[in-house]
Amino acid sequence: MRVSSKKAGARSGRSRARLVAYRIKKAADRAIFSVTHLFHRDSLSDYPVALTGDGAWLVDQQGRRYLDACGGAAVSGLGHAASAISQAIREQLDRLAYAHTSFFSSFPAETLAERLVAQAPYFGGLPGARLDRVFIVSSGSEAIEAAIKLARQVALERGHHQRTQIIARRQSYHGNTLGALAVSGNAARRKLFGEFLFPVQHVSPCYAYRGLQPGETASAYSERLVKELEETILEVGPDRVLAFFAEPVVGATLGAVAATEGYFQGVRQLCDRYGIILILDEVMCGMGRTGTLFAYEQEHIQPDMLTIAKGLGAGYQPIAALMVSKEIHDTIAKGSGAFQHGQTYVGHPVACAAAVAVLDVMQREQLVVPVAAKGTLLMDLLKKAFSNSRAVGDVRGRGLFVGIELVADQESKTPFNPQLRIHAQIKKKAMELGLLCYPMGGTIDGSFGDHVLLAPPLTISDAELELIAERLAAAICQVTESAGVRTL
Ligand SMILES: Cc1ncc(COP(=O)(O)O)c(C=O)c1O
Repeated sequence: MRVSSKKAGARSGRSRARLVAYRIKKAADRAIFSVTHLFHRDSLSDYPVALTGDGAWLVDQQGRRYLDACGGAAVSGLGHAASAISQAIREQLDRLAYAHTSFFSSFPAETLAERLVAQAPYFGGLPGARLDRVFIVSSGSEAIEAAIKLARQVALERGHHQRTQIIARRQSYHGNTLGALAVSGNAARRKLFGEFLFPVQHVSPCYAYRGLQPGETASAYSERLVKELEETILEVGPDRVLAFFAEPVVGATLGAVAATEGYFQGVRQLCDRYGIILILDEVMCGMGRTGTLFAYEQEHIQPDMLTIAKGLGAGYQPIAALMVSKEIHDTIAKGSGAFQHGQTYVGHPVACAAAVAVLDVMQREQLVVPVAAKGTLLMDLLKKAFSNSRAVGDVRGRGLFVGIELVADQESKTPFNPQLRIHAQIKKKAMELGLLCYPMGGTIDGSFGDHVLLAPPLTISDAELELIAERLAAAICQVTESAGVRTL
């Protein structure tokens, strides 16, 4: 029976709140695990149990509150417990949980595709260059796998059988499944599985903090890197190169590194010149994180394919998407007629409904508009908080996607000894101080270098940004001082 009166609604709201509180208490009572059968990421670590979330905060089973300054891995763009999203999920579940995409389409999937295509900026290009079709999957790695396979199938259907070679960049991350890991230039994550990864040519990342030479301008640096890419294309053989992959703003591996001016324009020109498919990976930096809904918007170039994930479902559902140009879709539609790929949960209606609700909230509450200003405030606060630290080499980023690179010596940019695992120590210390951040080691080459990545919810308040800077500075200073780098 549906309850329609306002009074009944308020009553049921109160009893639902009581029920939720009761369930949380019960869960908390149960949630002290002396023995675990869960295969954790790190078998030697003890993890607190996350029980509830609320805006920018997560709460564990002991009632400790953590300010979530990274959204896990840049996932929770709307913060935790956004009721509009859970309501959309519930409504979709009540209507339809699942219908296999080899039999049916669904309204949530159609709506999501329409919304993404309508909002994707268009910068012109060859006929059919506009992003026009959306293939919906459940994770960033799956979106990359789909991109790799679609690129190859398109080449075959164009009669370019010899195009088998992919070029990507060192110190990039495109996912952990074997195809996505082969494309990734993250040396540390590739190390154990090298024998299983198909060969990919990796060129230099666009990483000004360490790549820019003394006296070199940013645009000369961009030109140098584009020249290196062209030389690699010529070495491999221009008619053998299938695709070039790049993150518009490099996330996990380098720590929020945007390209220098002119770099992506140069890359686009090379791809046009040699008939190479340009695949931009916005799994981490997309969906408003950098101050525009799509990160490529700030590079003013048109990708042929684009991957998005994390902020798309904002943690409420696992969802990712591969967006492709009309020309690419038409190649398949007018050729064999079918993309030789698919998985059980492609276009899952509940995940799509959640993503549509995320886009709705972002639009209704105009969440992307203030991201650039909030990002500037966060960077200013961080720079101020670190002004006495001699261990912070660089504070960089775009919008609410910020990286802090740590050094043992600011002048020479010498990294810390990797054996100290400064990044891991900072993560631990920050958690003790009630802050969640996303530190990573191997920033420079997979072994050396440490950075901390921040990606707070787009809904974060100024007061919370201040608290992030304060707690992170405390964590970094305590750890780096104990490693021998003085705070003035
Ligand atoms: C740029 C980028 N691409 C792909 C992936 C893989 O996404 P997932 O972990 O959802 O498979 C990630 C994950 O961090 C990423 O940052």
